[in-house]
Amino acid sequence: MKDIIQLHDRKFRVMIPAEEIDRAVTAVAERLNADYADKPTPLFLGILNGSFMFMSDLIKKIEFQNELSFVKLSSYEGTSSTGVVKNLIGLNSSIEGRHVIIVEDIVDTGESIEHMVRDLQARKPASIEVCTLFFKPASYSKNFPIRYRAMEIGNEFIVGYGLDYDQLGRSLKDVYVVTE
Ligand code: IMP
Ligand code: MG
Repeated sequence: MKDIIQLHDRKFRVMIPAEEIDRAVTAVAERLNADYADKPTPLFLGILNGSFMFMSDLIKKIEFQNELSFVKLSSYEGTSSTGVVKNLIGLNSSIEGRHVIIVEDIVDTGESIEHMVRDLQARKPASIEVCTLFFKPASYSKNFPIRYRAMEIGNEFIVGYGLDYDQLGRSLKDVYVVTE
């Protein structure tokens, strides 16, 4: 593991080593295993691109029968007064009556997850919960409760384990934080 790395114009240093991430993923998987044991085939829905590595490690620790799929949030400048409109793309089958677990890399302000939850709720699932690898409590400004948080951090900017800085850094197995 390199202690300091350069991505584009910024330097980053190691903040959370892979072993610590693994322990946090195990802990959140155990909570899911307890809460969903008696639910009929829950559906894990990963948000691309950031959640791919978390999903891959999390799902190996899940003990109940499950399905998994990935979706993307596309954003484009809409003509509505709200400005940026975000659409869910890639969800081709019905989720009506299903127990859905959204898998995210990081929930910051909650803007993205709010769009996601609103879109999914319209499709009448039995339940929706969010399982995020990282949560920034000081930044989160939405009402939807984020039930499963593997780790909480401050408002610092991090990369690695799926998270990127302008598309770089996703493949790192440790998490790095931007240096001042
Ligand atoms: P939100 O909509 O403000 O909750 O932001 C969520 C999205 O912003 C995440 O899915 C990430 O793509 C990105 N993001 C927020 N904080 C970070 C960070 O510290 N590192 C990398 N990406 C981040
Ligand atoms: Mg993301």
